[in-house]
Amino acid sequence: MKTVRLNKETEIPVLGLGTWKLNGEECVEAVAEAISIGYRHIDTADAYENHAEVREGIRKSGIGREDLFLTTKLHFDDGYKEETVRKSGERLLKELDTDYVDLLLIHWPDRSTSFEETLHAMDELKKAGKARALGVSNFTIHHLEDALKAGVEITDNQVEIHPAFTQKELRDFCALKKIAVTAYSPLGRKHVLELPLLHELADKYEKTPAQIALNWIVSRGMITIPKSANPQRIKENFDSLSFSIEEPDLVRIDEIPQEERIVAPAYSDFDY
Ligand code: A2P
Repeated sequence: MKTVRLNKETEIPVLGLGTWKLNGEECVEAVAEAISIGYRHIDTADAYENHAEVREGIRKSGIGREDLFLTTKLHFDDGYKEETVRKSGERLLKELDTDYVDLLLIHWPDRSTSFEETLHAMDELKKAGKARALGVSNFTIHHLEDALKAGVEITDNQVEIHPAFTQKELRDFCALKKIAVTAYSPLGRKHVLELPLLHELADKYEKTPAQIALNWIVSRGMITIPKSANPQRIKENFDSLSFSIEEPDLVRIDEIPQEERIVAPAYSDFDY
């Protein structure tokens, strides 16, 4: 699968399995199924409370650790002080039964601790070989401007992106700063599956609206992590990269009228 380079040592496969809301046996099965289909990138988070199930799915798949790209995120509830980051880092590695994660993210910006303190603590984990690349999630341009001042390499910003919420300005800023963009909720929680243009293009390319949305995301240079618990849809999403959408059609998707973001919990900081 195509990859995007994050830093000298690390490349991220452009399609991964998202695991938000995947728990219990359903999570174990989805992870094992995805890996058997060919996924080599699994995205989780401390806050999803499914590290043990992700670990079990990986174990069940029989894949070697070095053949898999694993992302997790530090829990926003814990705060992001130096000591907490260090302790959480150790704990999540134990939960995932691994010596390192490929990508470690700040899950949500929390300005009660300086980004500098958090990122330097994360950088210590990286220097100790416990994370191969560092990044953030749900950061606006303003958060990134502040965070970049820490002088720690931020390789990825994972944010909500789908055809009805394309975040072009943020993507352009990330491109300028050489920060990869991972699109979460790429199907807008199934909402984008209703967009007429995606149906029109699905008919044209003999694909599904979900496959059109995912292909557009990757065609625009991003990484994406669709969540599915269903084996057929896990496969359908994986197959979204096996065809090309013509540029004029990609442009039509770029121009879909924009809507409000879907993921905006009370603790989010999107107005900053
Ligand atoms: P399910 O787990 O039953 O497949 P998002 O990633 O945008 O948050 O969307 C996730 C939602 O979309 C989940 O409810 C998931 O349900 C559903 N989903 C995932 N892949 C597909 C697909 N290819 N077609 C339709 N629905 C999908």
